[in-house]
Amino acid sequence: MKNLIGDVSSAARILPDLNGEALFVARGKGAYLWDTKGKRYIDTALGFGAVLLGHAHDGVAARVVEALNEAPAPSWAHVREHAAASELARHTGDLTRVIFNNSGSEAVHLACRAARAYTGRTKIAKMAAGFDGWFDEITLGNVAGADADFADGARPSSERVTLLRFNDFEDVGRLFAEHDDIAAIIMEPMLANAGCLMAAPGYLKHVEAVARQHDALLIADEVLMGFRLHAGLTSQREGLRPDLATVGKAIGSGVPVSAVVGRPDVLEGFEQGRVLRGGTFSGNPMACAALTSTLEVLDTADYAALTMAGESLRAHIVTAFAEQGIAVSTSGYGTVFTIWPCATAPETYREALGVASKVFSTELHLVLRDLGLLVMPSPFGRIYVSFDHTAEVVEEMKVIFSKAAARMRSAKYAEALAV
Ligand SMILES: Cc1ncc(COP(=O)(O)O)c(C=O)c1O
Repeated sequence: MKNLIGDVSSAARILPDLNGEALFVARGKGAYLWDTKGKRYIDTALGFGAVLLGHAHDGVAARVVEALNEAPAPSWAHVREHAAASELARHTGDLTRVIFNNSGSEAVHLACRAARAYTGRTKIAKMAAGFDGWFDEITLGNVAGADADFADGARPSSERVTLLRFNDFEDVGRLFAEHDDIAAIIMEPMLANAGCLMAAPGYLKHVEAVARQHDALLIADEVLMGFRLHAGLTSQREGLRPDLATVGKAIGSGVPVSAVVGRPDVLEGFEQGRVLRGGTFSGNPMACAALTSTLEVLDTADYAALTMAGESLRAHIVTAFAEQGIAVSTSGYGTVFTIWPCATAPETYREALGVASKVFSTELHLVLRDLGLLVMPSPFGRIYVSFDHTAEVVEEMKVIFSKAAARMRSAKYAEALAV
């Protein structure tokens, strides 16, 4: 009997077998992963966004090992935690106060607690079909779940969480008309986990303005988008002034680290000991070393070039499938995007549900895996590129996508895709 439930500890990592065989990763470096049989893959799942500098970055690894050797659990205040907080706060504008955790879910949990403590209100409003982590209360309305799409007047709510519809301008006003105890709206600058649904022009600022009118806070969930478009928060780049933000994933180059950053007054309750924060491993030296060394590299990284490379890959994918008579579109940014089996990418979750195809995304995953490229098999999955996805790697990816498109046009897949 197998000991590990389903072979993986997170359901997000479940993969279909290819020719009756499971994938087991043995190691990774840069843009690549190798399986236990020695086959090399170009990786685009990249730790679900945690690997922006490439797998096993030498500089980050060295600093993490140094921290490990100098006491991994020193219990008390330590120099690496202070250095990491300063380094992070240097990138987050007026969100100058920092509390570290290990995972994005923990940081979201803590940010919601901060908002409730500050406002004295109970409810957190979350974007339906978003994913702000896997902790019980915030999973309401998670992408692909029963509550993720709802009709007017049927807003799913629990005691402590309610939902609003992404890109629906009027729904924000209705939300506050229906609920008078909203502590905060938590929102991503792009609904990444629902397939990189882009915010409509003016939508993010509209949400912020309506929240302010009702004295609710804005939590920017940047666990996925933070540091992905530039060395800082995407919401601030979009002109938003969130009261709190959560970051994780890319800030640690694959080492578990997350943080809540916030305005000093909003986080004051923690400073004064009125609000609980904890965690044996929160702010541990390896996490802090990973964060500090990662941000140092990101400060001089060429985001513009990486984004352009990703954009050219997106364009190539659309053309490669079109040449085979298969309509495909993409949504998102060059550094993180989703492929859709339709001519125009969806803008709302309801549209996304209408075009999402498990058949297409599973077949695309299997064909690409066979050809040596790993993509997430979910219809809402994302393609990430890292700074180690050099021009040569991207060219190789383009060749593989062209081959995959041709194979998917073949009789075997054409029927399933109804092309
Ligand atoms: C936007 C967002 N928030 C929160 C989380 C939860 O982070 P973690 O998986 O590190 O708990 C994720 C993870 O995918 C995420 O994408």
